[in-house]
Amino acid sequence: MQRKGMALIVFTSSLFALGVCFALQDKAILPIQVAPITEPNKVSLGKQLYFSTVFSNNATLSCNSCHIINRGGADGIPKYIGNNRKVGLLNTPTALNASLNFRQFWDGRAQTIDDVIEDHLKDPTIFASDWANVESKIKNNPDFKIPFKNAYQGEVSAHTIKEALHLYLNDLTTPQSPFDRYLQGDKSSLTPEAFKGYQLFISYGCITCHQGPNMGGNLYQRFGIYKDYFATKTNITKADLGLYNLTGKEEDKYVFKVPSLRNITLTAPYLHDGSAGTLEEVIQLMGIYQVGQPIQPYDIPLIIKFLESLTGKIPAPE
Ligand code: HEC
Ligand code: HEC
Repeated sequence: MQRKGMALIVFTSSLFALGVCFALQDKAILPIQVAPITEPNKVSLGKQLYFSTVFSNNATLSCNSCHIINRGGADGIPKYIGNNRKVGLLNTPTALNASLNFRQFWDGRAQTIDDVIEDHLKDPTIFASDWANVESKIKNNPDFKIPFKNAYQGEVSAHTIKEALHLYLNDLTTPQSPFDRYLQGDKSSLTPEAFKGYQLFISYGCITCHQGPNMGGNLYQRFGIYKDYFATKTNITKADLGLYNLTGKEEDKYVFKVPSLRNITLTAPYLHDGSAGTLEEVIQLMGIYQVGQPIQPYDIPLIIKFLESLTGKIPAPE
């Protein structure tokens, strides 16, 4: 009788420990808050700029050419196609929820979205332009006259352009995903499979890197912790070196900002070099290189069900 009692206590206390553990893990991921629009004129100007080609030297590209809102904020191809239709070295990360990242770009070299715009504008493989060019394009375009007047008393400058765009990007978040509703207390918003996938996401340790409100984007990690991913890779480029390009330190080679998993089912192909076509493939790679144990084949579809629950409300495009 006493034994049974003990067993019951051990059983319930381990259940309790599991519960506490879950509650703590729940705190590792935070729901995306609905952004209050405080400056609607600036945000709507930012949106107009996002869909315009004023940044592009030869007026061929807009932000939406690569960060397509309707495609989860990415372009659906392994590597971006930039200025003069040249193929770049990197996979385009999503612009959705980018404002939640601790830094920007795969190697984190941009601190803020304003830095991203400066970098993209001058990058010969992206916009290949400069501010004088952008300002004159805007001043010569009557469609921008009233929006700039309403937002900035007509001031067209690098400062107002960057501010309007970053305020729009602050609004490009995707709240209210089923998983966020789960985190906010609606336990029925996850299917049993997605919930099982969430438990696996925790037990395999994915959550140690993909965490915070963006489920990523808040720390740096090497790609290839348990095994050298780049050992067998041919054609290693500068873009593969990650943080090393900023610091020149050997230990920063192949270190990247952990990417966000929000809306991840919409943004194939994956990885900084676009080399993984499907989520199955990435999850297997994560097992080998980041987790140090193979992900069981029957667990993969459950993890994918969980990842599907991270798709939030995508802001209305144009
Ligand atoms: C030709 C394709 C292309 C265009 C056009 C483009 N981007 Fe990008 N964007 C990229 C690529 C590629 C990266 C990653 C670059 C890197 O990591 O070095 C990126 C990164 C970003 C990031 C950082 C995301 C992250 O998680 O690190 C933001 C934000 C962003 N772009 C916003 C914009 C905005 C705003 C515009 C328009 C002013 C724009 N982009 C135009 C291809 C493009
Ligand atoms: C030690 C840190 C770490 C762990 C643990 C980890 N990841 Fe990752 N994950 C990364 C890094 C870093 C990348 C980017 C690698 C690259 O692009 O070269 C990444 C990329 C991804 C991507 C592709 C994202 C994109 O936009 O291209 C997915 C999906 C992903 N991880 C899912 C998972 C899952 C599921 C698990 C658990 C089985 C997991 N990760 C465990 C660090 C980690």
